Amino acid sequence: MEIKKVGVVGCGLMGGGIAQVCAESGYETVAREINDELLNKGISAIQANWKKAVAKGRMTEEDQAAAQGRLKGTTNMNDFEGCDLVIEAVIELMDLKKEVFTELDNITPPHAILATNTSCLSIIEMASFTKRPEQVMGIHFFNPVPVMKLVEVVETISTSQETMETGRKFSESLGKQVVTAKDSPGFIVNLLLIPFLLDAIRAYEKGLATKEDIDAGVKLGLNHPMGPLTLTDLVGLDTTYHIACAMYEETADSKYAPPVLLKQMVTAGWYGRKSGKGFYDY
Ligand code: 3HC
Repeated sequence: MEIKKVGVVGCGLMGGGIAQVCAESGYETVAREINDELLNKGISAIQANWKKAVAKGRMTEEDQAAAQGRLKGTTNMNDFEGCDLVIEAVIELMDLKKEVFTELDNITPPHAILATNTSCLSIIEMASFTKRPEQVMGIHFFNPVPVMKLVEVVETISTSQETMETGRKFSESLGKQVVTAKDSPGFIVNLLLIPFLLDAIRAYEKGLATKEDIDAGVKLGLNHPMGPLTLTDLVGLDTTYHIACAMYEETADSKYAPPVLLKQMVTAGWYGRKSGKGFYDY
C-alpha cells in the first residue's frame, strides 16, 4: 500500500515532531490538536525548527516552503478523512486512546493503517476499539523526533505482516532506522530506559549524590549525551510518570514503581523543560 496522506493526532512535543518529519519527507500531513491555542503552539514550534534549519543551511528556503505547504493544522478529527496512515500521539491515558481510535476507525478509509506512538500502553487494547485490528500497529518515535534516528515498529498478535511492512517502509522513508518489537510494556527501549531513569531519581531522592553529580557521572562515565535527570526533564516528568505507572500496573514489578519525589514534582506542575521547571530550571 502506498502512503500519501498522513494524519497525526496531537501536536505536542512528540506529535509536532512527527508531523514535522512527515511533511519534510514529502507526505501531505494533517496535524490535529484539541484547541486553537495548542495547535498554534505546536505549528509555531515546527516553523521555528524549519527557520533554524534554513538559517543553519540544513534546509533550503524552497524545501521549507514545500514542507510548509504540505502541512495542515486542524482541530477537527474529520480532516483525517482520506488519510492512508494516522499516527496517534496524545497523552498516555487509555480512556483517551479509546476515544481517538474509535473516532479514527469511523473517519478514515477502510484501507488506512492506524498507528500509535504510545511508549508503554497495550496496543492490542487500542486495536480492540476498532474494526480493523490487523491494521493497527505501534510506530514509536524518540524525543526530539527530528534528531533521533530510531523508530520502534511494534506488532500486536493481530497486526498483519502487510501492515508491519508498510509501517516499516514508511518509517524508513522518514530517514529513520527501524527496530521491530512485540506489543509488550516498554517495547525495547523503554523497558531498559525507564528503570534507569527511576533509579537515578531514587538516588537523588535518597541524597546519595547531587543531581549535577548523578548527571555528570552518567554523561562522562558512560558517554551518554545527557545525564538521566536532564533526560527526564527532556522526556517530561509527567510523561515519565505516566509510563512508569502503566508499566508498573502491567507488570507488578517494583522496578517500574514511580518514586514519591517524581509524583510530587508532577503534582506541583514541574514537568521538565516544557513547563520551565523540572530537576533543573529552564
Ligand atoms: N527539535 C529539533 N532539533 C533539535 C531539538 C529539538 N527539540 N533539540 C536539539 N535539536 C538539534 C539542534 O538544532 C542541533 O542541530 P544542529 O547540529 O544542526 O545545530 C542538534 O540537534 C544538536 O543539538 P544541541 O547542539 O543543542 O545539543 P546536543 O548536541 O546536546 O544535542 C540532543 C541535543 C540531541 C537532545 C542530545 O543531547 C541527545 O541526544 N540527548 C538524548 C536524547 C534521548 O535520549 N532521547 C530519547 C528519550 S526517550 C524517548 O523519547 C522515548 C519516549 O517514549 C519516552
